[in-house]
Amino acid sequence: MPEPRSRGWVFMSEDGVSMRSEVERLLVVDDEGPILHALQRTFEAAGYEVTACLDPAEALDRLKEKEFQVLSADYMMPGMTGAEFLARARALQPETIRILITAAHDFSAAVDAINNGEIFRILAKPWNRVELLGTVRQAFDTYALREKNRQLTDLVKKQNGELADLNRGLEKLVQERTTNLLDGMVAVLDYRDTETQWHSRRVSRFTRRIAEQLGVCDERDLRTIEMGSLLHDIGKIGVRDAVLLKPGPLDQEEWVEMREHPRLGWALLQRIEFLREASEIVLQHQERYDGSGYPAGLKGEAIVLGARLFAVADTYDAITSDRPYRRAQPHAAAVTEIQRVSGTQLDPRVVHAFCAVPETDWVRIRGEVEQISLLEAQWGWTPPRRVFDLIRDAADQKAIRADGPLPLDLAIVKA
Ligand SMILES: [Fe+2]
Repeated sequence: MPEPRSRGWVFMSEDGVSMRSEVERLLVVDDEGPILHALQRTFEAAGYEVTACLDPAEALDRLKEKEFQVLSADYMMPGMTGAEFLARARALQPETIRILITAAHDFSAAVDAINNGEIFRILAKPWNRVELLGTVRQAFDTYALREKNRQLTDLVKKQNGELADLNRGLEKLVQERTTNLLDGMVAVLDYRDTETQWHSRRVSRFTRRIAEQLGVCDERDLRTIEMGSLLHDIGKIGVRDAVLLKPGPLDQEEWVEMREHPRLGWALLQRIEFLREASEIVLQHQERYDGSGYPAGLKGEAIVLGARLFAVADTYDAITSDRPYRRAQPHAAAVTEIQRVSGTQLDPRVVHAFCAVPETDWVRIRGEVEQISLLEAQWGWTPPRRVFDLIRDAADQKAIRADGPLPLDLAIVKA
């Protein structure tokens, strides 16, 4: 008996380059012994590895044990019809190419098997040797082509997945760098406007904390709220120093210019896709709950939640921070003032959430932001977002004091 041949179908390794061949295995089923043996001899002589079964039930057992590329079956067999056998064989090994070899008078009965079982070819008994071997060769070649197609499809799927991961990583990097750039701009603007650097950073963290207290838990929503609050005054970049820094009250014309800053900020952020939602907070951050704000005079819940949350955080920060013209007020004074304007300037539901946050949380957040400012003064650059996250994580375990030791291994962070 010749060695089973190794040809025809190939495997690709994970990198899609190297290949290996596989023995061509054929399962033959026929309930008539002499026919089965004749088929077995013919196929073995052609170099295939043949498993021959008289009983279709035994053939199903063989299918459970190992893979066959091609299956040749008689149609009329005792104990199980050819249609049933082929359907069960298909369930066990759907990729196997199935050939039916049947007597001419069974052809009409075999039609349903052809329709249901996806038979590759049907051959008549007695068979023509050349036709039989030609059909089996085609069956193995078809299997090899389909296998290669499956592998290529898998490879394309895998590469598409890798590409999607790469794009996500790239998008994240763009977002991080854009955020860092804007963060730096905000720090400069804060200093230009209020001489209170880190005002926007504190307010963004305060706003997030109130949002969490109110039950906002989706990280994407929290991030939008935080970014909108951080960038709330970015439009002041378009307000002249003569107006922004004017010591006395503004005249009507100057007010018109000043009141443009929410719209300017909103317009600026329209160019940055991942900040579109946050830009609504920027646009509405000067609106007041009772409709007395600007630019649209929106009222109540017509103002986006992020802007209503921001208004409380901004008021708190303004009262509890040093300004050039007055000293910072204590926490209790800020709470009293915020409660006084609840329902007029501020959303009472948000004020309620604010009051439920323990004072220690505000102290902790203020300390974290001051830690960042110390680092920036030391390094001369704006740390990336991950530094905030690391400090926040560290602060969750141990409260940080602004003048206390740095909670991180700065060598690692700087690297
Ligand atoms: Fe503003």
